[in-house]
Amino acid sequence: MEQGNKRPETMERITTPELAQAFIEEQIAAMKEQIGDKKVLLALSGGVDSSVTAALLIKAVGTQLVCVHVNHGLLRKGEPEQVIKVFREQMGANLIYVDAVDRFLDKLAGVSDPETKRKIIGKEFIDVFAEEAEKLEGIRFLAQGTIYPDILESEKGIKAHHNVGGMPEKFDFELVEPVKLLYKDEVRVVGKALGLPDSMVYRQPFPGPGLGVRCVGAITRDRLEAVRESDAILREEFGRDGYDNDVWQYFTIVPDFRSTGIRDGERCFEWPCVIRAINTLDAVTAEPAELDWPFVQRLTERITHEVPGINRVLWDVTPKPTATIEWE
Ligand code: XMP
Repeated sequence: MEQGNKRPETMERITTPELAQAFIEEQIAAMKEQIGDKKVLLALSGGVDSSVTAALLIKAVGTQLVCVHVNHGLLRKGEPEQVIKVFREQMGANLIYVDAVDRFLDKLAGVSDPETKRKIIGKEFIDVFAEEAEKLEGIRFLAQGTIYPDILESEKGIKAHHNVGGMPEKFDFELVEPVKLLYKDEVRVVGKALGLPDSMVYRQPFPGPGLGVRCVGAITRDRLEAVRESDAILREEFGRDGYDNDVWQYFTIVPDFRSTGIRDGERCFEWPCVIRAINTLDAVTAEPAELDWPFVQRLTERITHEVPGINRVLWDVTPKPTATIEWE
């Protein structure tokens, strides 16, 4: 393991606001020392890890940090707006917002193979980010929200640990990774101490390719909107009933086939919306969450009446294995 990438055995687990505060102060001092008066670039997705990394860097070097938020069109409802509100408006961050929606959706048009979709999204993301980096002058550092499980998993060869690990070599940035020795629960405690909103700090896991892997098959804009709207209803209802604390991950999937239904007394031919709600410890195996029937009925009522193009709701009751958590 690379020097500096191993968590010391004596390092105390960050479980309290006081321990978080001590960590924050230590990291701010270390980053000030490392960065000096140079500029740092960060891809800010709005996920917990990159948000906490950004908030730490803003405290350490203020507007020497340049955050780039790429909207690839596959984010959940309200997410780009939240990133802008929290970081630009509330924290005064130097934030570049890139609307790359058309670019991603045009590249993905007609592509139905899940792995090809993932590759296109990953490559396009790096291209957009690199183009933004090229426009800037004097960037010396690249900040990343790498966390300790990423390092452990990359050691074991499970996944490449850098979310922007594919940055072209010409950039030659030095890395800044303030939370790389922390576990996820510690990142959340630090995020809370930094004043980030709960909706960011306690966010459920969300895959990099976003809603793209939940709009099964070739992505179309109308079906993608159906995924986004049904997901928003699900999050609102889970939040209202407190299920968001009991269920590890919950989301909707809209497959690309239709079935017959009735709307306003007329025949309609529309998509089904699948709900997946699971509990797990580590995402390696998972169990479907058991939820109250009236709650399921309310979700069905809202989704079929509020989301254009959906006339039927299905519940995915399959554990992992045999199913994976995501559908693609
Ligand atoms: P699966 O579907 O493999 O999902 O059972 C396990 C966990 O990983 C998330 N997931 C992803 N996360 N990029 C990500 O960053 C991906 O391509 C991806 N695919 C799945 C999934 O949401 C679940 O929490």
